[in-house]
Amino acid sequence: MAQARNIDDLRSLARRRVPRFSFEYVDGGAEDETTMAANRASFAATRILPRQLAGIRAVDMSVDILGKTSQLPFAVAPTGYNGLLAKNGDLVLARTARLAGIPFTQSTMSSSSIEEVARVIDGGRHWFQLYMLKDTAITRRLVERAQQAGCEALVLTSDAIVLGNRETDKHNYASPGKLTWGAKLDVARRMAWLLDVVAPHGPPGFGNLAEFLPRGQTSAIDGARFISAQMDTALSWETVDWLRSIWPHKLVVKGIMRVEDALAAAERGVDAIVVSNHGGRQLNGTASSLEVLSAIGKPLNGRCDIILDSGVRRGSDIFKALALGAKAVLCGRAMLYGLAAGGATGAARAVEILQTELERTMMLAGSSSLMQIDRSALCVASGSF
Ligand code: FNR
Repeated sequence: MAQARNIDDLRSLARRRVPRFSFEYVDGGAEDETTMAANRASFAATRILPRQLAGIRAVDMSVDILGKTSQLPFAVAPTGYNGLLAKNGDLVLARTARLAGIPFTQSTMSSSSIEEVARVIDGGRHWFQLYMLKDTAITRRLVERAQQAGCEALVLTSDAIVLGNRETDKHNYASPGKLTWGAKLDVARRMAWLLDVVAPHGPPGFGNLAEFLPRGQTSAIDGARFISAQMDTALSWETVDWLRSIWPHKLVVKGIMRVEDALAAAERGVDAIVVSNHGGRQLNGTASSLEVLSAIGKPLNGRCDIILDSGVRRGSDIFKALALGAKAVLCGRAMLYGLAAGGATGAARAVEILQTELERTMMLAGSSSLMQIDRSALCVASGSF
């Protein structure tokens, strides 16, 4: 694992280790994947203007995010079915985040339950991502469980009222929830993965929703079917008001791409927004999150924190997002490639890679603390962002 030089190396290792359907579930995006490509292209098109002779002795990468200090300006993004990549995938990522001093965001669709993650987080930062479900009693129960488990933030995902059109995933399933024969043969070929993840306790379950599933239906696949029937397409700002009234801690809305939505969130007392296109997995053809970031930041004028995700693979990407107004970023696939490549060791390596890359970028760009990173650190063609 130490030989993995960057996140892309972890991705290559992951591709070799886990079954094809698991890898493609993580790696793929919606339809023609142009939004996914745009996310990476925007980072590539944004160039740094290094400041020299800045007298840097040490670099401080800590940041105050949602009212608490994090050691690094990134958090683990919420991702469903982490148990498909490594045994107890959520617990592994939660422990990795705690050791690194960064927040772990648990998905509604996690393989482990809120309570199991809370036990592992043990004083670390635990955020819970919420999908609003048609059955408000279930949503309320999830919110209550998150509160009882000590989660410090609720992250409402706004850009997935229906599931994105992920054609690769469809190719791997004969019908909803049933692997094709090709995918099954591929699983069998990768015995090491099979022994690690599936045996001896059977395939990963569906942590948070197990109590709502009909008797005997406890697998990730049953959960997936349940959740897609339960997605509340009527999600609106009234839902945010409702959550604000029942959730006394930090509230975050994830999936914001327009200025007016960012302002509406701030007006409703939301503590942070995540500027995100869901890593290009939902609506294909959208703008990249980086290209809308500064347009959102200016009118928002510090009324709530801005977090960015979608396409972060390098420490220099984090630097660029911060320079354009984000306080921190979420890392989705970067962490999952690590997890899939080597469980706890791989996840820790992903954090280490991003951390050392950011540190080196800051040194070479002439910034000793995150406060010093602003737009003047970038050479962006005027009017392009
Ligand atoms: C996700 N994402 C996601 N988001 C969310 O709010 N709830 C979820 O359950 C999931 N599940 C999920 C699974 C997988 C496999 C991926 C890759 C992503 C989106 C995630 O939180 C984040 O927005 C993106 O991953 C960011 O893009 P990058 O970092 O993966 O490029």
